[in-house]
Amino acid sequence: MSEAVTRVLPAADDTRALGRTLGELLAAGDLVVLTGDLGAGKTTLTQGLAEGLGVRGPITSPTFVISRVHPSLVGGPALVHVDAYRLGGAAELDDLDLDESIEESVTVVEWGHGLAEQLADDRLEVLLERSRRPRSAAGGAGARATAPLG
Ligand SMILES: Nc1ncnc2c1ncn2[C@@H]1O[C@H](COP(=O)(O)OP(=O)(O)OP(=O)(O)O)[C@@H](O)[C@H]1O
Ligand SMILES: [Mg+2]
Repeated sequence: MSEAVTRVLPAADDTRALGRTLGELLAAGDLVVLTGDLGAGKTTLTQGLAEGLGVRGPITSPTFVISRVHPSLVGGPALVHVDAYRLGGAAELDDLDLDESIEESVTVVEWGHGLAEQLADDRLEVLLERSRRPRSAAGGAGARATAPLG
């Protein structure tokens, strides 16, 4: 069963705060798939997740590193942060051996839609959208970043 909840996020701090709230709810074995255009806020949400989980930072947008492990500072699960943008396909995701760590970690995959589903049957999917009309009430699934485009 899946349910969709939409949240309007007027500023980056709101995206981070949503991530923090979610991070406090996550447990070992959980998979979060982040979808959204370039710059939609996927890494920002992951920064909040990291705060909520209490893992060591910083969470950055990796240029060369595709997967990074952030150990817990509070005796909880580590955060495995994956940026699949540069991955060529499912075989390359396979090569990261994420299934080795998925049970004892929280795994977050940016650009994971269409790829990360192979990792777990259950997952939290978050769709981040930038809106030209801040605070619009248009329908859609997932979180919604409504930053005005500059
Ligand atoms: N809700 C928001 N409103 C306005 N700006 C935001 C919001 N969320 C994030 N941002 C800003 O948007 C920029 C891009 O954010 P971020 O790097 O998290 O996006 P991304 O989806 O990870 O990008 P990429 O596709 O390159 O991985 C940052 O400057 C961030 O502070
Ligand atoms: Mg990013």
